[in-house]
Amino acid sequence: MILAHTSEQLKEALSAGRNKGLKIGFVPTMGALHQGHVSLIDKARKTTDVVVVSVFVNPTQFNNPEDLQNYPRTVDADVMICKTSGCDVLFMPDESEIYPDGFQHSIVELSLGNLGKVMEAAYRPGHFEGVVSVVYRLFSIVQPDVAFFGEKDYQQLLIVTELAKKYFPKTTIQPVDTVRLPDGLALSSRNLRLDEQSRNQASQIYKGFLKVREFLCDNHSWSQESCFKIFENYLHARAPLLKIEYFLIADQRDLSIASPTTPKEELRAFAAVYANNIRLIDNLKLF
Ligand code: PAF
Repeated sequence: MILAHTSEQLKEALSAGRNKGLKIGFVPTMGALHQGHVSLIDKARKTTDVVVVSVFVNPTQFNNPEDLQNYPRTVDADVMICKTSGCDVLFMPDESEIYPDGFQHSIVELSLGNLGKVMEAAYRPGHFEGVVSVVYRLFSIVQPDVAFFGEKDYQQLLIVTELAKKYFPKTTIQPVDTVRLPDGLALSSRNLRLDEQSRNQASQIYKGFLKVREFLCDNHSWSQESCFKIFENYLHARAPLLKIEYFLIADQRDLSIASPTTPKEELRAFAAVYANNIRLIDNLKLF
């Protein structure tokens, strides 16, 4: 595995493969790698020829400075995981490499419509501007044929797809399923910060989604309010530590609020929940 810290080193590492017409797969990450990332790398390994992983904790996408400070950093373990999971080139740039002009990161113009207004965009102002800038910059450097994004960050996946359509039409965005622990908890780097009690209760988020799905199967004239109540009551009884920031059922194509007239196969449940002061997000395709 080649370790690259600068764009020049990365370009050099990729030039031979690129000249031979090999397919470059890219997995952008913020480190603290877990099995969810490994499944992205696996997918890249199976479907492309050269796998690039980036590890860069992007300051511009943290709307809360404390969250940035506390974000887990496990560099040595990340290097090991990349080596053993089949990454060919690990890109670990520093801030000046990604933001040579400082943090003037609002330069990428992308009109997102509803995607830029709801859920994470509403509760984490500036978050997606930061994601869009860093992904724009990383794609410009790596120029991947395929980039792999987890469905766990579903809104990010749709936004990056819009970014690629506009600025990187040769790059395909490949969604990858969320990886869950046996009790249903979606893997996330933030799980590392949960204490045992919060960790156990956090698995109820997924089970709450399943409860809502059950309700939807039996009730064709459902409402957002009734689904919210089911999710809330379920968590309240089993996971009192969890505080819901939002829960809703959206049309997965554009994240508009869903209703009983939305085709069932487009329904996806979304939630953001605090476990003590750790913010967790999850989503589930309902049918
Ligand atoms: O999903 C993430 O880990 C980050 O948002 C990403 C895409 C690597 C951009 O910093």
